[in-house]
Amino acid sequence: MIGLWHAIANTPKMRLKFQFKIARKTGYTLDIASEPLAIPFKVDSVAVEGNTLRGTAGAFWMPGQSIVVKLTFDGDGFEGEMTIPGMGRLPLQGSKGRGPFLSEELIDTVLPLRKNEIPARSDEEIDREVEALLGRMTLEEKVGQLFQVPASNFSFGGAVETDPPEKLVAEGRAGSVLGAFDVARVFELQKLAVEKSPHGIPLLFNADIIHGAQTIFPVPLAWSCSWEPEAVKEACAIAAKEASASGTVYNHGPMVDIGRDPRWGRVVEGAGEDPYLGALMAKAQVEGFQGATLADPETIVACLKHFIAYGAAEGGRDYNTVDISEMALRNVFLPPFQAGLEAGAASVMNSFNIYQGVPVAASEPLLKELLRGELGFDGVLISDYGAVEEIAVHGHARDAREAAGMAARATMDIEMATRSYEFLPELVEAGVVPEATVTDSARRILRLKYKLGLMDDPYRYVRPEKERDYHFNEEHLQASLELARKSAVLLHNDGTLPIRSGKAGRLERIALIGPFADSRDLLGPWQFSRFSHETVTLYEGLLGKGIPPERLLYAQGCGVEEPLPGGIEAALEQAATADLVVLALGESSDMSGEAASRLSIGLPEPQLRLAEAVLALGKPVVLVLTNGRPLVLGELGERANAILETWFLGSQAGNAIADLLTGDYNPSGKLTMSFPAHAGQVPVYYNGFRTGRPVTDSNANSKFISKYIDGPNEPKYPFGHGLSYTTFTYSGVRADRASIAGDDKLTVTVTVTNAGSVAGVETVQLYIQDVHGSIVRPVKELKGFRKLRLEPGESKVVAFAIGVSELRFWSPANGYAAEPGAFVAYVGTSSADTLSIGFEWTGA
Ligand code: BGC
Repeated sequence: MIGLWHAIANTPKMRLKFQFKIARKTGYTLDIASEPLAIPFKVDSVAVEGNTLRGTAGAFWMPGQSIVVKLTFDGDGFEGEMTIPGMGRLPLQGSKGRGPFLSEELIDTVLPLRKNEIPARSDEEIDREVEALLGRMTLEEKVGQLFQVPASNFSFGGAVETDPPEKLVAEGRAGSVLGAFDVARVFELQKLAVEKSPHGIPLLFNADIIHGAQTIFPVPLAWSCSWEPEAVKEACAIAAKEASASGTVYNHGPMVDIGRDPRWGRVVEGAGEDPYLGALMAKAQVEGFQGATLADPETIVACLKHFIAYGAAEGGRDYNTVDISEMALRNVFLPPFQAGLEAGAASVMNSFNIYQGVPVAASEPLLKELLRGELGFDGVLISDYGAVEEIAVHGHARDAREAAGMAARATMDIEMATRSYEFLPELVEAGVVPEATVTDSARRILRLKYKLGLMDDPYRYVRPEKERDYHFNEEHLQASLELARKSAVLLHNDGTLPIRSGKAGRLERIALIGPFADSRDLLGPWQFSRFSHETVTLYEGLLGKGIPPERLLYAQGCGVEEPLPGGIEAALEQAATADLVVLALGESSDMSGEAASRLSIGLPEPQLRLAEAVLALGKPVVLVLTNGRPLVLGELGERANAILETWFLGSQAGNAIADLLTGDYNPSGKLTMSFPAHAGQVPVYYNGFRTGRPVTDSNANSKFISKYIDGPNEPKYPFGHGLSYTTFTYSGVRADRASIAGDDKLTVTVTVTNAGSVAGVETVQLYIQDVHGSIVRPVKELKGFRKLRLEPGESKVVAFAIGVSELRFWSPANGYAAEPGAFVAYVGTSSADTLSIGFEWTGA
């Protein structure tokens, strides 16, 4: 029964395909995948008796309940059943291999409906068409375009709160659909819209394609550590290609929120704590998703989310109060949005939080004045899930009716999931919302439908014939592997790594221990791939490196959050006979992401107990971390010989980690979010202010300075930190001028040398400090970086040009401007390890 199996089951609601991956080491392991709904099954137990396998699995939305699988194998086939709470018993009959793509059944139906070519329309032509259509639409029909309905009210026992999507679509009460994913479902709903709804206006299909569609890439926090926007852009282009073949035209991403608080689970979706890098990553993602033109059916709409300051939720608790200054809003949280808009993002989504006491979904100063007015955004503004109704829950509107009026007046075009906009016709009638406001929103949505080509060919994104070629193909997996290797960060290494040539020398036996040693939970949150069961585990990755199975010992040791009976004993037994222990610890995918804030940001207790027992053996220990946020590592961090931060690296995670551990790929990732030394430091980030009583070398022991009395101010691993198997030295920092004025530029140069014995890639970072200003300025701000590869012994001179655009910031007194005075340029290998040189900008 070892291998990949599939079965197709007919339920009263839909056809489902299940895939089962069965493997064996010390015991049997089972992984389950499903389609069209990609259910994130977590298998808890597997038992095999003769040719029958029994497994139980949980899923995050039904805590405490189990799905039960029983499969009996006979040659190349099997029979069995699956019992799903709320759905009942599904008989299964299946055979070997991945099986057919369910969507292939659709090809013959769709092909004749598709146009071979659509007219290339100019913006003026689109505007004319849209105005003509608007002229034929009633107010109610325009309002209908403003709703985004969830694709399915198929739920595992949950209540259905609105009319079913079919009814809403046919009646013209939906303009877009959330989370259809499955191409057959897209086709079904699109056909209803085209054939049944008034005017036959096609639907937009939206989904959260955050770090890959079928081929999963590293989570965004991870890929930001590559400091390689071009590679991120490529990943997004691949994601767009895979998603659009299945009907998705409109992404709910990129998420460009700055994350400074690791308690907040959503830091995993963004590019970390820095606005400059965040802006580059925002631009790269928009360019990747949208390509050269939205008219290309292999691109999707990029939606910048969540506008704005969502990452400043107090205490890191999701959806919590935000109360920050305009200084922070504009200098820290806004730059990635500005960059994404400049790159042409066609959509923006609001954040759930309040700003100045007003929920952003209702904020005219933020949405109408800042976003539309000042930043010139004329694309589609979409509410986050339920955010319009929540205006009332926050306590800003008396009810959903008033909330609808506020959101509409703030220029919110689409209401996601809830239906407060049903009140719009009566609000127009009552003079609360001008009819022109509703027409403007409908106009923006219809324009987008034209730009995507949907008005000319509603089925152009329904391409089941492409799925087999595009989804999870070799080329995409290779791109995922390459980005994964670049995204991992070597936090610490006393020379134990790499495995083959490190201090431990030629290794006889490696013990691979921990809940992530052979786990497929390496994709992270926000993924809906049908290929999750084919994720490469670390154990498989190391075997793939040619380490013979008898020298690769394995023990799970414990679960992610719970002990395993006898787990530690079994782990110690393996570790005791090994030359090196690789401890694979971390957080499961559902411990970060939305609604996954944590109070304690360390490893869960059972894993700490396992680690402690293993460390007590005194063997060299390499800690491999899988997690979605910076963690506080405490004593374990001090005692491990080497620490490799791998985040969630995606479909090829195990191969990438094995390449890095063995030294076949030299680590080059650099942190984009600081790792606190203690949870009490949170939020801790590199670009804070000096304070009036900064700690210096000479005053560190005095009392009345800005410091903790029981620990350091500095994070354990700062922004920009990341090691290599070689060492880079920096020398001779110079500026070609001491002073510049107006638009002059000065050039700062530094020599970087590879002082080690292997080739490596270094990210040389440039920071600037504005020493004094009309408002205080951060101690350092990233303003540039270069990635370079150096052979052993090789040196290169790196040059950075600095001009007024690197010195500009927002202040209440001067708006966006640079201020004359003294500056310091810092160049180095991390935000905390730099050489510096002062200069002056004397003014415009
Ligand atoms: C999240 C958004 C997401 C939406 C739709 C919301 O709960 O905050 O980021 O796009 O759900 O899935």
